[in-house]
Amino acid sequence: MVEIGATTSATEGFAPGLLAVALFEGESPQELGEDAARVVPDGDFSGKPGQTAMLYRQQGETPRLLLVGLGERNLATPEKLRRAAATVARRARTLRLREAALSLPALPNTCVREAARAAAEGAKLGPYRFSNHKSAAKDHELDTFWLVADEGELEEVREGAHLGEKVAAGTVLARDLANEPSNVATPEYLAQKAREIAEEYGMRCDVLDRAGIEAEGLTGLATVGRSASNEPRFIVLEHRKGGDEAPVVIIGKAVTFDSGGISIKPTAGMEDMKFDMSGGAAVLGAMEAVGAMDLPLYVFNVAAATENLPGGDAFKPGDVLQMLSGKTVEIVTTDAEGRLILADALSYARRYEPAAVIDCATLTGACVVALGSHASGLMGNDEDLVAEVRTAGEAAGERAWPLPLFDEYTDQIRGDTADIKNSGGRGGGVLTAGAFLKEFAEFPWAHLDIAGTAYGKKGNAYTTKGATGVPTRLLVEFLLGRTP
Ligand code: BES
Ligand code: MN
Ligand code: ZN
Repeated sequence: MVEIGATTSATEGFAPGLLAVALFEGESPQELGEDAARVVPDGDFSGKPGQTAMLYRQQGETPRLLLVGLGERNLATPEKLRRAAATVARRARTLRLREAALSLPALPNTCVREAARAAAEGAKLGPYRFSNHKSAAKDHELDTFWLVADEGELEEVREGAHLGEKVAAGTVLARDLANEPSNVATPEYLAQKAREIAEEYGMRCDVLDRAGIEAEGLTGLATVGRSASNEPRFIVLEHRKGGDEAPVVIIGKAVTFDSGGISIKPTAGMEDMKFDMSGGAAVLGAMEAVGAMDLPLYVFNVAAATENLPGGDAFKPGDVLQMLSGKTVEIVTTDAEGRLILADALSYARRYEPAAVIDCATLTGACVVALGSHASGLMGNDEDLVAEVRTAGEAAGERAWPLPLFDEYTDQIRGDTADIKNSGGRGGGVLTAGAFLKEFAEFPWAHLDIAGTAYGKKGNAYTTKGATGVPTRLLVEFLLGRTP
């Protein structure tokens, strides 16, 4: 994968095949000489976000000068720069270059370190693609993406770039795991990844197999996973580097394939249900980044991994489960399986008296209807925590939007034969799912429904068709914010 370097333009031997300059809307690049400055008044380039203009043989040794738009100066954010850097890295790859450079722009209200971090993330995530199963030889990759700055800023640029590289690497891991089909990314495959992360960063890794899951009383996971021959796994990675403070726990739904079970889904689009483990992939990606950054924090993840398949031994509509917390749940549909496995993960987390718990899950189709692919649904039982998660998402460029958990949504899932039921019907499907989880969250808790954001058909400047890695960067941002 591309490495991020930091350099001044005057450095001996610095001769990238492409040098990019990011420009705000309507601003002419006077300092780049007359020819370059003309592209704006001539109308070839306005500086709108994502816009580019290529000029050849401009500055001394640089064979290509790429102008890239940042949009209006007073609307500038790290996210705009992240996208601009991604656009540059993609173009450089298309041109089959080995090295490319971006002159780091000064963004209003953003320090050099943050700008460098955003640019590094964009440059690493932009060219991402998933080609593990293509038989043709791997396509061209960039070796180095240089961030160009003044001598006095280089230290900060380096710091920001290193951070960005780690966050991007965690995101890439999450994307890779989520993109793998379910015949590769089985629950045990995810467990193996967790063991590798633990090995690399000295974390504690606990993996429960089917017998262990049953013995622990994790009814939801044991029940959903009962009929699958790829056994379920309950995967915990613990990074304990803080003092004696209470842990932050990040929980991910890792249904490696959701057929719906006995309440089987229609054929059309079912192949996308390999992405139903995106929450689990994101928490593993976040733990990878936490390890690489060696955050002085007590944090652990839970990935509840299983397939949801029909079979002679499968659970059925009408069944009643007694969950780890003692509450009983009536199964209305076996397709509402995510909340069952997450409920017990929440009860498990309670033992550690956590300071905060965030779960993320491709939980409901209703969330896709509500917010589309432009924001994750955000719910919780603690206003401050919800606000903190929302802010982290905004900073990371992974937007999360608050949705209400009124008591009436809880009323909607009251059970007939058991305490609660696993579906509240069609109305407010995102919120009745959230209300279900709330029954098991006895600590400050936030829930991210990532059904619309974890994977997509289109992509943007730094995501492609398939897994996006959401909400890995949000989680890392949150954890960075919690770091003393
Ligand atoms: N994994 C699905 C949710 C989902 C749907 C994610 C579409 C991404 C795209 C989840 O397990 C599910 O099937 N939810 C049901 C719940 C319903 C039966 C109460 C849904 O949303 O239809
Ligand atoms: Mn389902
Ligand atoms: Zn599911």
